[in-house]
Amino acid sequence: MTTAATGESVVVTLSTFADAKDAYRSRDLRQSLYDEGEVVMADVLVNLHGTEHRDRRRVENRMFRRDVFERYERDLFPEVTAQTLAPYVAAGHVDLVHLGHELMLNLAALTAGIDRPEGTAAETARLHAHMMRFIEGATLAHATGDKAAKAAEVARALEEWDAEFLAPSIARRREILAAGDAEAPRDVLTTLLRHADELDLPHHVVRREVAFYLLAGAHTSATAFVRTVDHLLGWFADHPGRAHAHTDPLFLQRAVHETVRLNPSSPVGRRRALAPVALRSGTTIPEGATVVIDLQAVNRDTTLFGPDAAAFDPDRTVPAGVAPFGLSFAAGMHVCIGQDLAAGVVARPDTDPDTHLFGLVTGAVGQLFAAGVRHDPEHSPERDTTTARPYWATYPVLLGGGS
Ligand code: HEM
Repeated sequence: MTTAATGESVVVTLSTFADAKDAYRSRDLRQSLYDEGEVVMADVLVNLHGTEHRDRRRVENRMFRRDVFERYERDLFPEVTAQTLAPYVAAGHVDLVHLGHELMLNLAALTAGIDRPEGTAAETARLHAHMMRFIEGATLAHATGDKAAKAAEVARALEEWDAEFLAPSIARRREILAAGDAEAPRDVLTTLLRHADELDLPHHVVRREVAFYLLAGAHTSATAFVRTVDHLLGWFADHPGRAHAHTDPLFLQRAVHETVRLNPSSPVGRRRALAPVALRSGTTIPEGATVVIDLQAVNRDTTLFGPDAAAFDPDRTVPAGVAPFGLSFAAGMHVCIGQDLAAGVVARPDTDPDTHLFGLVTGAVGQLFAAGVRHDPEHSPERDTTTARPYWATYPVLLGGGS
């Protein structure tokens, strides 16, 4: 733990697993990761606290249930993934970064409840451009330049997206619900509309909540997808004797978990102390302090993950009580609601692969390896130099044949 005073505020940085977990579970520590991202993030689930959070989460949890995940994982996602992949397999190559975003946007649009009635590439490109704007809005704290102007652009994008995508999606769902149709889609928007009386949310809050689900589901899963494939291509090159491991979905799921451990979607969690807090380790946090949870350090703790904690090892075993993905899905009240959907359920020695949930990232990685993904010897991947985060700008791969 380190404490630093900047101006008037105290910043407490937590870098042990125990402190981090304790902090995530404290009711006196409030979310503050999106403090400057209100244009998209004001009053969305991850930014609510106390009873407001509990009531919204209780309603939305009704969609994030095992039977719904099974339907997505077994029926809906494999088909959407195959359709998205088909033109690239026919062409024999794709940029993995582009594919990751397209694929996960398709899957996130399904779970958020955003229809694309045209079904054209141009329509998907417009939805993608909106989502990228929403991501900029959520992370305005890290933006350089005129933040007010950026916020205004994001607000405009929300209005335009609402007119083209959200309003018609709401209208269609209202009709289905009014007809008492038990076959209404299982998505976040339908869930919010079905429980509109209970939550009493104004339209602009529904707008932000669905926009948030779109970005929370798509961006995190897309980066996990690209990084898992990158890690695995390197790992297979180093382990020629295990060339067929990609046909084992339990192995692929461990690779996804290991990737997510090494690369949390945000390198830190952030909270603000509403009252003085004493963690079980004896660490004290004064009221008003900002708490920074250093996930990068926590997830690479050598006492938990071994001396090679910073390396990618899909065969790694972890101690009881520690998840293979560390704290990358957080813990406590804001623990990722989409965790099982994205990364499945953690397997046990007696897991039956026929009934197991592997997660949508695992499924997409498996379908890509089945399509013969391999490095393109003539075009190397390039890092994104516009951000300090470890993102790829471009990652060309070959598909089909020869694998
Ligand atoms: C690999 C993929 C993903 C990662 C690494 C991830 C990570 C996280 C983390 C760290 C948080 C907690 C943030 C905090 O407390 O500061 C979170 C919350 C959340 N995530 Fe995810 N997420 C992923 C996929 C998804 C998906 C697929 C969805 C939706 C379908 C989703 C929806 C949410 C929502 C709604 C919350 C807020 C929960 C609450 O505040 O109660 N996430 N996620």
